[in-house]
Amino acid sequence: MIPGKKIKTAYFCSQCGAQHPRWQGQCKECGAWNSLIEERVPDKRKAGMKGSSAETRTIAQIEGEILTGWRSGVVEFDRVIGGSLLPGQTVLLGGDPGIGKSTLMLQAAEAYSRQKLPVLYVTGEESMSQIKLRSNRLKVMGENVTVVTITTLEEIVDLVRATDYAVVLIDSIQTIVSSQFDSPPGTVAQIRECANTLIGEAKSKGFALFLVGHVTKEGLVAGPKVLEHMVDTVVYFEGDSSHLYRMLRAVKNRFGSVAEIGLFEMGSDGLSEVTNPSAFFLSGHSDQPRSGSVVSAIVEGNRPLLVEVQALVARGSYGNPQRVAGGIDNKKLALLLAILERRCDYPMSQHDVFVSVAGGLRVTEPALDLAVLTAITSSLVNRTVDHRLLAIGEVGLSGEVRGVTHIDRRVAEAVRLGFETILIPAANESQVQEKSARIVAISNLQLALDIALG
Ligand code: TYD
Ligand code: MG
Repeated sequence: MIPGKKIKTAYFCSQCGAQHPRWQGQCKECGAWNSLIEERVPDKRKAGMKGSSAETRTIAQIEGEILTGWRSGVVEFDRVIGGSLLPGQTVLLGGDPGIGKSTLMLQAAEAYSRQKLPVLYVTGEESMSQIKLRSNRLKVMGENVTVVTITTLEEIVDLVRATDYAVVLIDSIQTIVSSQFDSPPGTVAQIRECANTLIGEAKSKGFALFLVGHVTKEGLVAGPKVLEHMVDTVVYFEGDSSHLYRMLRAVKNRFGSVAEIGLFEMGSDGLSEVTNPSAFFLSGHSDQPRSGSVVSAIVEGNRPLLVEVQALVARGSYGNPQRVAGGIDNKKLALLLAILERRCDYPMSQHDVFVSVAGGLRVTEPALDLAVLTAITSSLVNRTVDHRLLAIGEVGLSGEVRGVTHIDRRVAEAVRLGFETILIPAANESQVQEKSARIVAISNLQLALDIALG
């Protein structure tokens, strides 16, 4: 700090990066609470106006230089990042602390290394010996993987300029600091500056860059959201750390589809691909009819996925009845119960209701509604539902069953896994040609319950 010189500061949101002149409890841009941090305002570079020397071309004139990318060979991973990794492509990998980002990055490094691509793995979080321990556990040979434990931006830049790496992984961007700024690591100014510089190096040298960013709920470390607009591809690694499955989901992709997900299972020797997700999520599904258990078909990204909804309804003993939802939104559950009470006359307000999606998956898709309501009613009246029955449909406020997207894919997946009776919304009936299962078109909830519960 220079004595006597007033340092200009402002408040930056650690969630979205927006700048505010004054402190306030809530960020006006993204609505996050308690997310503003006071930081020094970066000096603007003085840029004079010069005549433009930029080269211009029409799209037709651009030489058809088709970039061929690199594949890691891990199908679930490659698909999400856009098929193949392009030289200069920048990927942000976000996720909660402890979800498995470093594990994924190390395994990706190994996969690229096996394709004979030189990889640089920069870690600011772990020591060399910790990396070695983890590598042993993951059976990572790392023949072409160079590991460094540095946290200064300038050192990283020197390193990537000196050697021709194809893939550079930074774990995590929140630990890297530029000596140009005196703000601590993880602040909005630092992670923006570091990401910006590294992205520039990636574009000019033509290496692919992965930036790992921890999701932060609030407070002093800025989250990956701040960087989303700067990179080509944004993927989030999700899951519940008490369950085995992990889902890699693309939320932005300049070079491919964002509707892609990749599924992995976390085991004692790292992540392995889940190639048959429906079988994975139904692994605990009973092969006998049971009350309170109904399977449905949802679509995650572009893929159909069968999930089992379980419900337990018990007579409430005192006070407010309990409603506990795992894997679906609590408010959604309250809404569905109100529909059941008002449209089908079941006395839900006197009962405690517990609902969960088996396997720990979080589902926001409305196509699950019918299965949730069937499972709840089945438990309430204590009647079993055929374990070879599957229910698909959104349920509206007046108890009508509404159409869903991708019905053909859902039905095909259900048939593939051996389901024999499939309840579908009447609105989707004309889109289904399946002959090898009994397809029942349903227009309202009561009808579905009559069929499912006999
Ligand atoms: P990690 O990749 O360090 O998470 P992140 O970088 O996102 O913070 O993974 C952390 C968790 O993964 C840790 O709790 C242990 C678990 N894990 C396994 O279950 N099996 C393994 O082989 C490895 C390496 C980690
Ligand atoms: Mg980590």
